[in-house]
Order: sequence, then structure tokens, then C-alpha cells
Amino acid sequence: MNAAVAAAAGQPLLVQAFAEWREAARELLAFDIAPHSVKWLAHGGGGDLFSDAPVDAAALPAIDLRQARPTLHLPRTLMDMLQSAACCRVADRWAFLYRVVWRWQHGEQVVLSAADEDGARLHAMVKAVRREEHDMHAYIRFRERPEADGAPRFVAWFEPAHDVLPQVAQHFVSRMGRISWMIATPDASVLWDGEALHNTGPLMRSAAALDDTGEALWLTYYRSIFNPARLNAKLLASHIPSRFWRHLPEGAAVPAMVSQAGAGARRSGQAEAVGQRRGSTIPIAADQAQPPRAAASTLQQCRRCELWQHATQAVGGAGPAHARIMLVGEQPGDQEDVAGAPFVGPAGQLLDRVLGEAGLDRRKVYLTNAVKHFKWTPRGKRRLHKTPAQREIDACGYWLDQELVQVKPEVIVALGSTALKAVLGSGEVALKDSLGKPVRHGGRWVVAVYHPSYVLRVPDEAAKAQARAVMVDGLRLAQRLLAGDGGHAGR
Ligand code: URA
Repeated sequence: MNAAVAAAAGQPLLVQAFAEWREAARELLAFDIAPHSVKWLAHGGGGDLFSDAPVDAAALPAIDLRQARPTLHLPRTLMDMLQSAACCRVADRWAFLYRVVWRWQHGEQVVLSAADEDGARLHAMVKAVRREEHDMHAYIRFRERPEADGAPRFVAWFEPAHDVLPQVAQHFVSRMGRISWMIATPDASVLWDGEALHNTGPLMRSAAALDDTGEALWLTYYRSIFNPARLNAKLLASHIPSRFWRHLPEGAAVPAMVSQAGAGARRSGQAEAVGQRRGSTIPIAADQAQPPRAAASTLQQCRRCELWQHATQAVGGAGPAHARIMLVGEQPGDQEDVAGAPFVGPAGQLLDRVLGEAGLDRRKVYLTNAVKHFKWTPRGKRRLHKTPAQREIDACGYWLDQELVQVKPEVIVALGSTALKAVLGSGEVALKDSLGKPVRHGGRWVVAVYHPSYVLRVPDEAAKAQARAVMVDGLRLAQRLLAGDGGHAGR
């Protein structure tokens, strides 16, 4: 009851972290204490007091501390937004978040709408934090240190604009395995010793700025790939905000290269580069080449849903430009996310075997996924697959449609129920009712089979063999449907 008692007495509440705020907010809501009667002591305890209005303790409404009422259950999406927004460095963050939950508790669900003043601010805060997380993933540079007992092997310095270090640290834990590293910032630092994460407090920049033997090599490489003829200084500046440049080793080299480009290197760079070209040969037949799908950079820039934020990259489809059969999976998995190609992990290996059994050559089919970004949840050091939500499948339908228009397959094999929903575009299609029953949709056949990951997961050997046989049958059926058209499985 501490928060409620303090608020009733007009005392400020000192909150430094989201968990503390959540506890305090829960108590305040239980006694229905209005936002204007609460003072929040700003981050760090040494700052100013923030509340919606100055609080006069004598004028506070009487609070009956025996009259606690149950607080409403807050939906997960709201909690997630509050937790994200709590990382946003604005002076009144705790007072603002409390006003949002208080309004929600009083039936004002509109507080989550971007049309509401508080809602719009909440969305903007969440967006700013996600952007900062993304930028920190992208622009942090680890420098390798000489081996020393107990010292981390890689060290990075960064000055985040919001309190995103904990979640960014988790990102690198999942990426860098057992290699030790440290990220230092002016407010806090974290050390990963290969097994556990430690909070080590704020550090000075100089403690993290160490020479790196690999850096000279990197700069030489960077200078060598810099093509002054293709410089677009405006674009360069707009893609990487200037505050990040000083963390990048190449940041110091760029201004000189940009000014050399302006002073003539642009022209001579172009003449030399063009003069050196010997023309190109294409060693593979045109119909074996990758399909002319939308430029990868466009898919890579996709922000149609939120999944891009936690994926390494978008994974587009792969296969002959005009394959007659298209296989659609659910979404890239852990290995596909890193490799940037579909079905290269365990599910892909099983798929290869099943394709072989059905007499189909992987190189003759086009492989893609309903959703192009890996959706996952951390479990220890692993990234566990999470089924995409319908809105994510719908958002990504844009890319699947583009692939269908370009490849023009005659038969689509939907691997699992997410793929089936994505292909048929209807929410309520049961995979089990569709197995072995091809349907005509959008002028082509759609055959449903189990997803290879499902087959891998079936624990019982007999059931596993049966699920696998369903896949093989479906793939044979796909070829018979083509043959009915008088053709072959691939062209
Ligand atoms: N599972 C899928 O659905 N697609 C992949 O690319 C890999 C695993």
C-alpha cells in the first residue's frame, strides 16, 4: 500500500524502472487515485517533480485506504506499449503512463487510439523507442580488444537517445553466442561473459574506445568500395543520422571522401571504374535465373507490419522465374533468417527428402513463405518460432501476390495452415479438411499438405510416417494436376 499511502499524503513517488512503476500504478488504481493527485519523482531521483498539476497536499481528496478495489486486467498489447513507452526519455513519463492506465481503467479505451491526444503521444513514444532499438542494432560497432583475463573480447560504445540498452543487449545475446562483449553507454553498461549478462553501471567513453587491429583493415576495405561516382551525399546523410556517425569507425573517413568526390574524384572515379569493366557473362540459362521479383531492397524496407524489427532480414522466395509449381511455407525460421533464403534449415532438409520421394526436383519449384520475416520469441539463448498473427499474414499478402503475378505457377502447394490461409485469403480454412482435396482458386490449383516442421515435431513414429506420406501424396497430386494440363512438373 506504499504508493497509495504516499500519494494520499502528497508525497512524491520515486520510480526508476518499469516494474516499480507497474507496482505503484496497480496500488494507485486499486484506490482509484486520480492522476492529478500523484507526484512522480523523475528518473534517477535527483530530478524534478512531475505531475499533471502542482499538488497541494491539504487539498487532496480523502483516500480511504481500506477500500481497495480490484484493478482491471490490462490487455497484453497495452502492457507492451506501456513497457516500450517507459523507455522513452521524456521528463513526465511515469505521470503520463499513469494517466493512460487510469483513463483505460475508467472505460476510456479511446486512450489507445492515435486520434486521442494521449493515445497519439503513446504511439509516438513507442515508435521512437522501437526506432532507437533498431538504430542501435544497426549502428553499434564492436571493437575487438587484445585478449586479457576476464576482459570482454568485444567492446562497443553507444549513446542511445532512449533507455533501450536492456532489450538491445538481449538481441546481441541471441546473436553472439558465447563470445564475451560489453556495451557501454553514459547511463549504464552491460557485460556478457558468454554465459550471463551483468549490469556494470555507467562508463566513460574512453574506457570503451580501444584500438582494434581489424579496424584498419575495415577502413581500407570501406575506402576501396566507396565509389565517388555514385555518391549521393544527401541520401547518405538521411539514411544515417549524424549522431550515429561518430560511433562508426568509417565515420571519420567519410567527410574526406565526400569532399574528394565533390572535388573531382567523382568524374575520375567513374571514368576509371567504367574503363576497367570487361562486360559481363551470364553463365546460367535465363530461365534458371532468379525471378525478376521486386528489388530486394524494397522487400527489405518493408514496414507493413512490425515483424521487421526483430528479424535479421526479409526472406524472399527462390526458384525458377516461371516455375509451374510454387510451394508456400509459413515464415522463415532461425536459419533462414540468418541465411536470407527459404527452407535451408531442418524443415528445408525434410522438405528436400519428401520432394525427392515424390519425384520432384527442388530446383524446378519456386519456394516461398506466406510471411517474409522471422517471428520469434527468446528462450534462453534460442530464438523460438512464433506463429504469425492473421494481420501479419494479411500484411505480407502483398508480397505473395507479387510473386504469384511474376512466377504465374499453375499449382500452389500450401505447406501447413498458415500458408493455406494466405493462399486462399480466407480466415476459416481447416487444413485437415483440405488434405488430398485440391481446389481451384484464382485460376490455379491449390493443394494442401502438412508443413515439414509439423512432420518433424510428430513424436510417434507411425504418425510421423503417415504425416510424411500425406506430404508425398500431395506433391504427387500437384504433378498429376500439371500433367492433366499436358505438361511436366517444371519448365
Ligand atoms: N519453415 C517455413 O515455413 N519456411 C521456411 O523457410 C523455413 C521453415
